[in-house]
Amino acid sequence: MPHTDVATQQKTVSISRRGREVQGSPIRKLASLAEARKKNGTRVYHLNIGQPDLPTPRAVFDAIQGLDLKTLAYAPSNGLPPALTAWKKYFAHHGMTYDERELIVTAGGSEAIVFAMEAVCDPGDEVIVFEPFYTNYNGFATIADVKLKPILLSIENGFHLPSEQEIEKMITPRTRAILFCNPSNPTGTVYTREELQRLASIASRHGLFILSDEVYREFAYEGEVTSITSFPEIRDRVIVLDSCSKRFNVCGARIGVLASHNDEVVSTVLKFGQARLSVATIEQLAVAPLLSDPEPYTAPIVEEFRRRRDAVYEGLAKIPGVTFYKPEGAFYIVIGLPVKDSEHFAKWLIEEYSFENETLLLAPAQGFYATPGKGMNEVRLAFMLNIDDLHKSLRILAAALETYQKKF
Ligand SMILES: Cc1ncc(COP(=O)(O)O)c(C=O)c1O
Repeated sequence: MPHTDVATQQKTVSISRRGREVQGSPIRKLASLAEARKKNGTRVYHLNIGQPDLPTPRAVFDAIQGLDLKTLAYAPSNGLPPALTAWKKYFAHHGMTYDERELIVTAGGSEAIVFAMEAVCDPGDEVIVFEPFYTNYNGFATIADVKLKPILLSIENGFHLPSEQEIEKMITPRTRAILFCNPSNPTGTVYTREELQRLASIASRHGLFILSDEVYREFAYEGEVTSITSFPEIRDRVIVLDSCSKRFNVCGARIGVLASHNDEVVSTVLKFGQARLSVATIEQLAVAPLLSDPEPYTAPIVEEFRRRRDAVYEGLAKIPGVTFYKPEGAFYIVIGLPVKDSEHFAKWLIEEYSFENETLLLAPAQGFYATPGKGMNEVRLAFMLNIDDLHKSLRILAAALETYQKKF
């Protein structure tokens, strides 16, 4: 037998195009620098991340401890009956009528968004989004092989929607849906009924689905959020994407839902659900009591975030050169800074700057835009600190901007 060198016969392996292209989390980019800074004894205020800092309601852990399961079996692919009934009650509480058969329990709102994209788009189809947008929409679109078509919003009007004509300009023969988040991450904008009417009319006229991400539904500080589900003329084309994560402080439970009155959408999403078998059994059962009677859990959380929103709004007014508006909902705001490159500023803050041995971790807003060069002087602030720490953070921001402007 002739000797063959196995090593020279080996062919190289390569990562997929989608794998190469998928975006890493821009929010976490600077996090390792923050860890290094903390190790060196500097206190870092995290204004960068959207994970609520408040405790999870005791009822969740009580429900888990009260379980008497002999076997941890797969749940049905559409969700466990008690979880489906709980979601139905939750929606009814908000004046939205969904039957259990119109709901699919998902692994967080994230899976609901991916399923919705996959159900309404073929590879290469387009989904309209409004930028700045929740940055993981990029990742979801890559997973679903869908192209996001961003429509630019402006800080000048608090990131409210443009005219019908502006939106329609982006529609092509490949456009299948409009995806938006109301209240919005990252801007905190709550769209008015009139703005939603614009989207409803466009969806009707152009035969588009509306993918309505309502994971921040309760976080509205100037009156209730109008859901796009309240327009009966688009009943068949609205897909609601929802989640327990933020409203109950249960991000780690990974329980979301996809809701639709369109039988074909639901049966299609169920097939995706069957392919991944099911969502975690224990967590579905654990959040069901909260969904069935949400108000006692959500009301104090929302109140706390209203106080924080007000504190941030008042604090920003004291910082010269900052562009901002009053966010109507969620727990974020995108602000304009008197700097050329907010990524450079954020990096400098976390690597070098110190104010009484403390500094800030910010999320540069470029990561929330798909259009290159947009949001260059903007950052997103998340209100995940108590009011005293928020006040302190804004004082640090003011002092840092003064030093930075002298230095660069
Ligand atoms: C706008 C928006 N949609 C969806 C999600 C997904 O959250 P989850 O998968 O935890 O439900 C998030 C999380 O930050 C979000 O901000």
